[in-house]
Amino acid sequence: MRDEIEALAKAALDALARAATAAEVEAVRQGCLGRKGTLQGVLRAIGRLPPDQRGPVGQAANAARAAVEAAAEARREALRGAQEAALAETEWVDATLPAPPEPRPRAAGTLHPVTTLARQVEDTFLRMGFEVLDGPWAEDEWHNFTALNIPPDHPARDLQDTFWLADGSLLRTHTSPVQVRLMENRPPPIRAVCIGRVFRQEEVDATHENTFHQVEGFYVDREVSVAHMLFVLRTLLAEILQQEVEVRLRPSYFPFVEPGFELDVTFRGRWLELLGCGLVHPDVLRAGGVDPGEWSGFAFGMGIDRLVMLRHGIEDIRHLMGGDLRFLRQFASGVEG
Ligand code: PHE
Repeated sequence: MRDEIEALAKAALDALARAATAAEVEAVRQGCLGRKGTLQGVLRAIGRLPPDQRGPVGQAANAARAAVEAAAEARREALRGAQEAALAETEWVDATLPAPPEPRPRAAGTLHPVTTLARQVEDTFLRMGFEVLDGPWAEDEWHNFTALNIPPDHPARDLQDTFWLADGSLLRTHTSPVQVRLMENRPPPIRAVCIGRVFRQEEVDATHENTFHQVEGFYVDREVSVAHMLFVLRTLLAEILQQEVEVRLRPSYFPFVEPGFELDVTFRGRWLELLGCGLVHPDVLRAGGVDPGEWSGFAFGMGIDRLVMLRHGIEDIRHLMGGDLRFLRQFASGVEG
C-alpha cells in the first residue's frame, strides 16, 4: 500500500513539473488530493487495514499529500515569476524620466460663423416641414447643368466658371443640382433645402472666393405660385435678419426657373440683393421625371457667406475660408443673432 501511495505521489509530482499554467497546476492537485482524487481513494481504504498497519500507511499518505501540496504551490509560484519576467521584458517603465507636464486645458472648439447661420436656416426650414439634406460636391454635367435646362454649348454655362475634374465631372457651381437629385429620389410633393459648399473658378479677392456656401430651397406640389414662394422667403429672412423685412422681386434670368427673379431685401436702410428664385421650369420637372401638367414648384438659391459678412461686419470674404484661428476665435460666443 505504501508503494501504491508513493507511485501516486510520484505521478502527481511529475505532472506538476510539466504543468504550464496555474489552471493545469490546480487540475493536477485536484486529481490527486481532491475529494475524488487518487490519493483520497487510498486514504479511505486505510480504515479497512489491520490496526497495526494503519499508523505507518497513514503517515506515508500524509507525507505524500504534503509533498504534492508543496510542489503545487512551488510550481504556481514559478509560473507567476516567469510571467512577470516576460512582461518586464516588453513593458517597462523608465522610472527616472521626469514627470509629464500638466495636461493643457482642452481647447474648446467654436462654431464657424457660416455654420452658425446655416444651422439657423436649417432650424427655420425644419419648423416649416422641410427636409434638410446635401448632395455631392463633385457633380456630373447632367445634374449641374443639362437637367437644369442649361444644355451643352448654351451660353448660360459661362455664367458660372467651372472647375472641371479630370474624369469629366465638375465641382458643383451651385446647389441647384440637388433639385434634380431630389426628384430622382422621391415623388412629389417635395419640400427640401440643401445647405452646402459650392465652387467657382473665381479670381479671389476681398469679395470673391472660389469656395462659398449656398442654401437651395426646392418645393414641388400642386398649383404652387409665387405667393407661396414669397411667404417662405419672408419667413426665412425675418428669422435670420431678426426683423420684419421688406422684400422686392426683380425679373431676372436663370434657365431653370420661369418666371425667374432676384429678391432684394431692406437691411439697415439699403436694398440688398440676396438671392435668385422663381417657379421651377417645366423642362426641369420633366428632367426629374415629374409631370409639369400635374405638378409645379418654386426654387431659390441664396449665398450665405455675404450674409455672414454683413452680420458680423467682416470686410474680406477670404477670412471665411482662411482658417486663421485669430479670426475664428472671435466667434467663440455671442454669435447668435
Ligand atoms: N443656382 C442659382 C445661382 O447659383 C440660384 C438660383 C437657385 C436661382 C434657384 C433660381 C432658383 O446663381
